[in-house]
Amino acid sequence: MHFVEALSTNICEVSIIKLQDIVAYQIYPRSFQDSNGDGIGDIPGITRRLDYLKELGINLLWITPMYRSPGCDNGYDISDYYAIDPVFGTMNDFDRLVSQAKARGIGIMMDMVLNHTSSQHHWFQEALKGKDNPYHDYYIWKTAPKGQLPNNWQSKFGGSVWEYVPDLDEYYLHLYGRAMPDLNWENPKVRTALFQVMRFWADKGIAGFRLDVINNLSKDQRFPNDTFATPQDDGRNFYTDGPRIHEFLREINREVLAPYGLISVGELSSTTIENTNLYTNPARQELSMGFTFHHMKVDYPNGQKWALGMNDLPTLKRIISNWQVGTMNGGGHLALFWTNHDQPRALARFMNDDVYRDQSAQALAIIEFGLRGVPFVYQGEEIAMKDAYFTSIDRYQDAESRNAYAGLLQDGKSAAEALAILQQKSRENARLPMQWDDTANHGFSSHTPWLIPEHDDQHTVARASACPASTLAFYQELIHLRHSNDTLKSGRFELLDPADGEVFAYRRESDSEILLVVANFTQQVLSRRLPKGTYHTIIANYKKTSLTGDVLTLQPYEALILRTSK
Ligand code: GLC
Ligand code: CA
Repeated sequence: MHFVEALSTNICEVSIIKLQDIVAYQIYPRSFQDSNGDGIGDIPGITRRLDYLKELGINLLWITPMYRSPGCDNGYDISDYYAIDPVFGTMNDFDRLVSQAKARGIGIMMDMVLNHTSSQHHWFQEALKGKDNPYHDYYIWKTAPKGQLPNNWQSKFGGSVWEYVPDLDEYYLHLYGRAMPDLNWENPKVRTALFQVMRFWADKGIAGFRLDVINNLSKDQRFPNDTFATPQDDGRNFYTDGPRIHEFLREINREVLAPYGLISVGELSSTTIENTNLYTNPARQELSMGFTFHHMKVDYPNGQKWALGMNDLPTLKRIISNWQVGTMNGGGHLALFWTNHDQPRALARFMNDDVYRDQSAQALAIIEFGLRGVPFVYQGEEIAMKDAYFTSIDRYQDAESRNAYAGLLQDGKSAAEALAILQQKSRENARLPMQWDDTANHGFSSHTPWLIPEHDDQHTVARASACPASTLAFYQELIHLRHSNDTLKSGRFELLDPADGEVFAYRRESDSEILLVVANFTQQVLSRRLPKGTYHTIIANYKKTSLTGDVLTLQPYEALILRTSK
């Protein structure tokens, strides 16, 4: 057993990357690059594109799950934690990816799902055999009087969280899909089994884990009804940041993360700033950083996701600023992002994906990279990819979107209204295959892709590479700047003009300099007065900055970072 040897190499290799030095990239493997012509992206495809990623300047790669899975939730339903799903390749392919990435200074971050398994996992199959089976207690079971449910909690994928198993006369809990039963973290055997899984991957020399829905692990053991006073009071009050969650995370840290020196990012849905600090302040020894989602709900009217909504800039700014300041003062660490595989793309949502598309994409990037935290680029953002805008429900593969569509029809919406909502809100929007070049299927695959774009789009990596003013070239420059500027990495943050509904501006400050990060969120030409100082531009999405005296004139969606020394 090479455990000790592997352990020590891991520690020194990984500790080369410090948190402030990370710029991460997220790959949704089904949609990144197909290598064997089956229309589904795979591991050899990712390996083939490592040089592209290295040139982009990123040093950490989060890849969403590739374990063996029936694919009810595209891999988040794991049936074997110890195997790579054949659709993505082999274990050899994976090992090669890790070593090839490492050779380019890129760490691989695996996506680990600890909250639930697939119903096909052998633990659950055993659990179904009876209450005396040793695996029964790996999951969460409850009884209820005939015709009733154990409680009123709603599944994130629609409907009740409880699924009845007639043979056992019991219900099992699933916060997500029916085919994704929640694991019982109260059972120490479950925890031990999962730590073993994590060590297996850590031994392969990965750099870290993205921990799926991690703040949902600990359920209130009374399982009380929720109030439904707002759409958020749907059960989540009793499992979000639950009673034992910090204890569980410290255990994960002690058992796996710390001994291997792994980087970790928790997906922290519906959490609070206070809890985020507890999760991510290094002194607490829980996680390195967290994804939080409050800024992704600005366009949820009355908290409702599946409804058409507008982005309100002052609200967006207030939320982002509260989290920046709150984590800065509490010693916490945020992972920064505008989109991921669970969100529509940010371009149309917050900016403009039609006219000024590239300026918009670059302005969003400036705002993200200027913030305090670790920036994540989601595949395609660097070429200003657009939403899918599917015009028929048949185009959608995603269970969450399809369930939402059915729910909207049930609520009396017409098919056209329901589709318009999906076009704006569905996460499938961000899952279109990566657009590499102008060959068939944009160079993604020689075969029809698993998710077929409905609209032809000219924004490709090949075209962007040939154009010095492209969004891709801009990302390279921005990532380079981020790696070389300590104020961006660790300066203090302060929001400017919170009430300004057109311009997003904030300040970063270190002992030696002040940076102003400014973006015009409108199509209008605007002027704004700058605070005192002599400023020069260090990066911008227009060629020339128009600064006359202390008046800055901003073109449509113009964004820039200005510097003044102290
Ligand atoms: C996370 C994933 C999402 C998945 C869910 C259930 O939110 O990012 O894609 O559906 O967890 O595992
Ligand atoms: Ca393939």
